[in-house]
Amino acid sequence: MAEPSRILIKGGKVVNEDCSVISDVYIENGKIAQVGPNLQVPAGVRVIDATGRLVIPGGIDPHTHMELTLMGAKSVDDFHIGTRAAVAGGTTMILDFAIPTKGQSLLEAYDVWRSRADPKVCCDYSLHVAVTSWSDELKKEMAILAKEKGVNSFKMFMAYKGLYMLRDPDLHRAFAQCKEIGAIAQVHAENGDLIEEGAKKMLSMGITGPEGHELCRPEEVEAEATQRAITIANAVNCPLYVVHVMSKAAAKVVSNARREGRVVFGEPIAAGLGIDGTHYWDKDWAHAAGYVMGPPIRPDPSTPGYLMDLLANDDLSLAGTDNCTFNVCQKALGKDDFSKIPNGVNGVEDRMSVIWEKGVHSGKMDENRFVTVTSTNAAKIFNFYPQKGRIAKNSDADVVIWDPKRTRKISAKTHHQALDYNIFEGMECHGVAVVTISRGKVVYEEGKLNVSPGHGKFIHREPFSEYVYKRIKQREQVRKPAAVVRKPYEGKVASLTKDD
Ligand code: URP
Ligand code: ZN
Ligand code: ZN
Repeated sequence: MAEPSRILIKGGKVVNEDCSVISDVYIENGKIAQVGPNLQVPAGVRVIDATGRLVIPGGIDPHTHMELTLMGAKSVDDFHIGTRAAVAGGTTMILDFAIPTKGQSLLEAYDVWRSRADPKVCCDYSLHVAVTSWSDELKKEMAILAKEKGVNSFKMFMAYKGLYMLRDPDLHRAFAQCKEIGAIAQVHAENGDLIEEGAKKMLSMGITGPEGHELCRPEEVEAEATQRAITIANAVNCPLYVVHVMSKAAAKVVSNARREGRVVFGEPIAAGLGIDGTHYWDKDWAHAAGYVMGPPIRPDPSTPGYLMDLLANDDLSLAGTDNCTFNVCQKALGKDDFSKIPNGVNGVEDRMSVIWEKGVHSGKMDENRFVTVTSTNAAKIFNFYPQKGRIAKNSDADVVIWDPKRTRKISAKTHHQALDYNIFEGMECHGVAVVTISRGKVVYEEGKLNVSPGHGKFIHREPFSEYVYKRIKQREQVRKPAAVVRKPYEGKVASLTKDD
């Protein structure tokens, strides 16, 4: 039987970023057609009872890496498996990264990622593009991507030396171009030179296991790069988005910068909010290696709670996952040298539940802030609000019925990801997606998936997101440096002195 394209969600509590209200939601042809009490709808409409549950905008994961080849391994969640897992956890859109291979143009990379993703995605998606070198040609390509291809965000790496890393002058050029074309600059903030030196030191001391990964890049390596990126971005009045904020030190840098008025957004991820990095010291190598990602999950056990506090209070803006999954045998590429362990962890399926458990159930944030950090702010920053990120008339029908009382235990045995372990294994979470609706279609219901590859669509994002650029534009007007008008100096001028 064909899936009805009309659905009435009855009696749930509709939660948006700014308010919660008991309301019906009527969905027609992929859009939200009406929101209000006791809606009268045509006969034949499927009715879903949401009494006692929340009706929230589908989650938006702003940071995933499906089928990315990194450090000699390809991440095992492809766009099909990864987006299936996403909808099973209540996420209805992902933003992935097109990352060029050495010598590949940005436009080619974009086309490659589109051709991988378009036929496979089970929910909507969009693409950031990574800038991993610099040239005039590349600068032009950034403009084309922003004007014609729906890309308004570019990621620059300060780590992965010799592969992706840009040095400060190129960061400056890339940020300046982002500002010019109305994009937001994203940054992987770690000092790549210090990581290289630190890794050599650990290996020379005989520390070859996963603990060496954290020890060679302590918190200040992340915090220094974060501060440097903010300084460079501010020098060219470019909005900045710091991906995967993992440490208290880096989070403090972002928070202070926001208080000083910088246009900067910090993105913690499910891994950093849900668990700590003491796993790197586990006696079982495979277990420890499973947590290797950059920047590392921090061993200070107060870190997850601290990051959640900052997320709850808007020092950090939204939560991603950096979902980049490598099986144990792929991690084993670094069995004798931690610096060869492919970097990445899971999260796309569990992000919503982990944040509900650690954020809302714990009393740190309310349901409205939950919606803000899991959905609305991503839509605002990356410029597709209120198309997504809100339950409102005319918004896309990406809707989740969320049961805050139900619990589930996270396990690799039951997850939908391709990964053969789960970093949240055994975590009991309140907050479960009961029904997930993507583009008006029920794609997940009471534990059962009903997805079709290619159902999702690419979301085209215009440049100059108002949410990000209003302040930038105004500053451009009122903070232009101007030369002091003065009479020319007419006194004596010394002759240049030569070195002895
Ligand atoms: O370890 C990580 N973070 N892997 C994915 C690539 C990146 O830097 O985001
Ligand atoms: Zn990164
Ligand atoms: Zn990433």
